[in-house]
Amino acid sequence: MSPTIHIDPARHVAPVDPRIYSGFTEHMGRCIYSGIYDPDNAHGLADANGYRTDVLQALKDLNVPVVRYPGGNFVSSYRWQDGVGPKELRPRRPELAWLTEESNQFGTDEFIAWCRLLGAEPYICLNMGTGTLEDALAWLEYCNSSANTHYANMRRKNGHEAPYGVKYWALGNEIWGPWQVGQMDAVDYSKQAYQWAKAMRLLDPTIQLVSCGETGFADWDRVTLKTLAPVVDFHSIHLYTVSEGNHDVNVMGPAAAEKGLEITKALIELAKIEGNLTKDITVCFDEWNVWCKGAEEHYDLSDALAVASWLNVFVRKADIVKIACIAQSVNVISPIITSPTGLFKQTTYYPLQLFAILMQGTALSLHVGVSTPEDDTYTGPTVPPFVARLSVHTEPAARATKWLDASAVLSPDKTQIRVALVNRHKTAPVSVPIHFGPNVAVGAEVEVYEVWSGELEDRNGRTDGWQGAYECKEHSFQVLVFTLV
Ligand code: AHR
Repeated sequence: MSPTIHIDPARHVAPVDPRIYSGFTEHMGRCIYSGIYDPDNAHGLADANGYRTDVLQALKDLNVPVVRYPGGNFVSSYRWQDGVGPKELRPRRPELAWLTEESNQFGTDEFIAWCRLLGAEPYICLNMGTGTLEDALAWLEYCNSSANTHYANMRRKNGHEAPYGVKYWALGNEIWGPWQVGQMDAVDYSKQAYQWAKAMRLLDPTIQLVSCGETGFADWDRVTLKTLAPVVDFHSIHLYTVSEGNHDVNVMGPAAAEKGLEITKALIELAKIEGNLTKDITVCFDEWNVWCKGAEEHYDLSDALAVASWLNVFVRKADIVKIACIAQSVNVISPIITSPTGLFKQTTYYPLQLFAILMQGTALSLHVGVSTPEDDTYTGPTVPPFVARLSVHTEPAARATKWLDASAVLSPDKTQIRVALVNRHKTAPVSVPIHFGPNVAVGAEVEVYEVWSGELEDRNGRTDGWQGAYECKEHSFQVLVFTLV
């Protein structure tokens, strides 16, 4: 391989929105119960309100700015009213997304209090399955109203005098999916969501609304944006990449997300032209991750590289994606796994942390030049055959994807250029010349943060695998920090 990177610090893409490093907590598996909330923890890991302090710290170390809640599929049969008030009076209910029982011991008030401890903004997804517009308005009133009205007073009675000021509200979850309670077609959904948006804004004009999108490259996205553009601030995208044991598919999968963002950007522009709109509409990529087997994924180095490639996509597309929530934050498809005695940071935790800390500031235009395309690019599928067969996520137009994946930022204080590099090739190390634009000088010292191990199947927890070095090894991820002089 012989790629070359060209970066011109004068060519800004857009500010990197810190909200691209956001999270998602759903009532699914052990995400909420025994993940973030574990009141019976026998090892002293929960505080007086039942919140796992070790989990809070691990998420604080990721600087999580926004957390989406309570689903996901769960929300489409969720009655928020069951989850507030005295805990002993809260009903247990059948739960239709994951076919379990919901105890309702954790609800809106617990979630908001947890977000406050974390220092994150809450983002609530509305139930557009079994829920009514009346329920949605009541939830908004409960959370945000300072009036002398029923649900605002209910919040006060439950001990929360001040309104919560929840800014982000999603108009349903994956309403297009056959698995969703209350599935609709795009036209029906758009009509209903438009009316919900109108009413929600009448009650609280300060909120920001998110339309339920699909992959960004589906006809659903085109149809819903056309109708909902006048009333929403964000369009959501959900996409999971899948490896099915194939490293190349795993690490190249995020190319589909990049294509989805390009298509969505164009669809937004089209909807704005058609609606004669001048407002901003951007993407809230509110579910993304590598998801292969079940609820509790065990990630290896290949998955960490895939996550780094996902994050490179979000930095490169900083002009259109302003919020992205890894699905999910704890235990379920998560970089963090808890046990009663502690937590385990999986391989995927580390690229996320490096990005959240270092890849902030202004995204820079970056070009990876290749002189031998046959060696430097991958031309195979980016979606494994079984996903293609589901024909839920059709693969966007095939593209030649470079083995070397990169993004760059100018640091917030404008003194450094930081380059995130993923060498996705299984076996070939690469020496990468990095050219900065004319009249740019960088210091001789470069800080290097590296995620690497000898085997792609290695998981965190080995003591003999992780190493620090300055060279772009085969199947590795680095962030290089250059100081401008
Ligand atoms: O994150 C797990 C599930 O994946 C969510 O509940 C749903 O929205 C998606 O299909």
